[in-house]
Amino acid sequence: MINKVIKIAVSIALPLCFMGCASSNDTKKENEVIEKRVETLLRKMTLEEKLGQMNQITSYANIEDLSNLIKKGEVGSILNETDPVRINALQRVAMEESRLGIPIIMARDVIHGFKTIFPIPLGQAASFNPDLVEEGARIAAIEASSVGIRWTFAPMIDIGRDPRWGRIAEGFGEDTYLTTVMGVASIKGYQGDSLNSPTSIAACAKHFVGYGAAEGGRDYNSTSIPERLLRNVFLPPFEAAAKAGSATFMTSFNDNDGVPSTGNAFILKDVLRKEWKYEGFVVSDWASVSEMIAHGFASDETEAALKAINAGVDMEMVSGTFFREAPQLIKTGQIKEETIDNAVRYILRIKFMLGLFDNPYVDEKAPSTFYAPSHLVAAKQAAIESVILLKNEKNTLPISADVKTVAVVGPMANAAYEQMGTWVFDGEKEQTQTPLKAIRELAGNNIQVIYAPGLTHSRDNNAATIAQAANAATKADVIVAFVGEESILSGEAHCLANLDLQGGQSQLISALSKTGKPMVTVVMAGRPLTIEREIEQSDAVLYSFHPGTMGGAALADLLWGKAVPSGKTPMTFPKAVGQIPVYYSHNNTGRPAQRSEVLLNEIPIEAGQTSLGCTSFYLDAGFDPLYPFGYGLSYTTFQYGNVKLSAKELKETDTLVAEFDLANTGKYTGTEIAQLYVQDKSASVTRPVKELKRFMRIELKPGEKKTVCFELPISELTFWNIDMKQVVEPGDFNLWIATDSQSGTPVTFKVID
Ligand code: GLC
Repeated sequence: MINKVIKIAVSIALPLCFMGCASSNDTKKENEVIEKRVETLLRKMTLEEKLGQMNQITSYANIEDLSNLIKKGEVGSILNETDPVRINALQRVAMEESRLGIPIIMARDVIHGFKTIFPIPLGQAASFNPDLVEEGARIAAIEASSVGIRWTFAPMIDIGRDPRWGRIAEGFGEDTYLTTVMGVASIKGYQGDSLNSPTSIAACAKHFVGYGAAEGGRDYNSTSIPERLLRNVFLPPFEAAAKAGSATFMTSFNDNDGVPSTGNAFILKDVLRKEWKYEGFVVSDWASVSEMIAHGFASDETEAALKAINAGVDMEMVSGTFFREAPQLIKTGQIKEETIDNAVRYILRIKFMLGLFDNPYVDEKAPSTFYAPSHLVAAKQAAIESVILLKNEKNTLPISADVKTVAVVGPMANAAYEQMGTWVFDGEKEQTQTPLKAIRELAGNNIQVIYAPGLTHSRDNNAATIAQAANAATKADVIVAFVGEESILSGEAHCLANLDLQGGQSQLISALSKTGKPMVTVVMAGRPLTIEREIEQSDAVLYSFHPGTMGGAALADLLWGKAVPSGKTPMTFPKAVGQIPVYYSHNNTGRPAQRSEVLLNEIPIEAGQTSLGCTSFYLDAGFDPLYPFGYGLSYTTFQYGNVKLSAKELKETDTLVAEFDLANTGKYTGTEIAQLYVQDKSASVTRPVKELKRFMRIELKPGEKKTVCFELPISELTFWNIDMKQVVEPGDFNLWIATDSQSGTPVTFKVID
């Protein structure tokens, strides 16, 4: 039975104006009032007070010292202060004791939750659910603003194609479209309907730009991204963030083609201000101004300040060179005071928009919003939808009601701190629902739970305790092994050259596999790991990028079928580190792999030099990754069919409607994430073999079938071409609607002039 046609137009190209949608008259009037207040205040400011607004410091214990700096007008923002009493005290100094009473904007890295911790952003990306990401950001904003924080350094929308890079955990993966959608959702969540709501916090689109392309996946390393690739792959999420009204941007640590982003006028002025007409303010990253000396891009702090200010950085995070060096640079005319005025204008505008001048204080007596039941429910749902079912053989999952004894094994089974993941400053491990705790609750008196960690932490290597765990597991009907990474092994500056499981975890999986018991392996990590061997040794595998506070409860529900996995890989899983960079939207090359190549162990002895053919693959690892982008199984099965296009020839002004049938051919109600990919088969420059352009979560009951539609404006097929112009070129296109980036049969359409 086919249900009604559902028209879904998931588009992010909505050009939202900065400072809210300027379409409404009220908003226009509010904006005019703000502009007048900015100009009136700016005219009263001394140069030192202007430079004070451009100066961000990190908080420290001595509140008298901090107060003196504020009183003198030398501080515009403070990061890492989370005590509402201290925040109000410092704000009172700014409002009542400084000459002009300009409020401080209090900032913090609230990356995937403040107290209620959500899955790391890479995990949230696996949900392919922007509504869930928006809700998580909204909850983070409610909790963070309740202590006086009004600016977060998120979303991180760096495209990342290298799991060696520790910060892959903090972004939304390898795909431009998915990252764009999730970045916009985050900004909406943090900033709410209006920035001046007391629970709204300013978002920060970071790190602008190209940081995730660090050579070798080694953090802070140089990048070499040519302009066309920058514009086709790395910039679109930031352009969408600007248009979605992100209040701030942050420059990235990397030098691209020799130019550190913090001194790069091309991206900060030509692109951000001139092309995108951005009106928020730009903050440097932590000491990234003074680090241009180490880069060899500035000879001293004077030149670092000169280059950063003239390139378009408005606020300096912690290195203080603007405040110290700019007065002399203005005297010598190397920096125009107009440049300073513009920077301060951008900063004051955001402070007015946040309502800080009229409501600078936080209500210290307000009831706590931390871990509100609704927040925990949302965090659990986010964790459920972020888990990816990679393998499920012999119907191992969901665990059946016949199972009376379960062995819970592994160093991540009860790792309350670790499962929160990276970039968690304010989460509390005491609040974490670990898998062990949740499984014990779910088991009650009906199922015996044998707990044998085997290893104390992910880097532990203890053959004796591994043997003990394996021995304990022989008494169980089923084994659930929790392995992965401690929190510290991903995140900033935490890069790995080897992505195998750390410590003795692989030996643990092997020992458990030898018991012959049905085994489910659950991986909790900050990145894709090279776990081909452990997957072979397991009957079922769930991948859970550090799932946060409610991760254990989510996993217990998934293991016992109270929830059904729906997550999809937000980035490609390599078989081996040597395949990196490996990602789905690659170019085809002139000699694409045929997937029929002879691999290492089948090569005949004394094989002739050209006998193996000449295509692009690895003798030892082949071409395909372990898992492609967009991959994930369910407890049920889905069947796609009957893909129909609204037209075979379309112009740039047309919208393509792609209709398809999706059926649930299995036994469980499940949610499929249908994905729409296109390929521009021939163009003025080589184009990727596939690009994700739409996705949609579709829930179906067993036996249910729906006809669903994607709408794709042809104008969204633009790219930067041989003339460095953003155009849609006429020509032939392939289109797939499929369950992942490697499946499906294409249909074709033509774009005509
Ligand atoms: C860090 C990070 C940046 C963060 C900032 C403040 O070095 O690169 O993402 O927001 O400093 O903590």
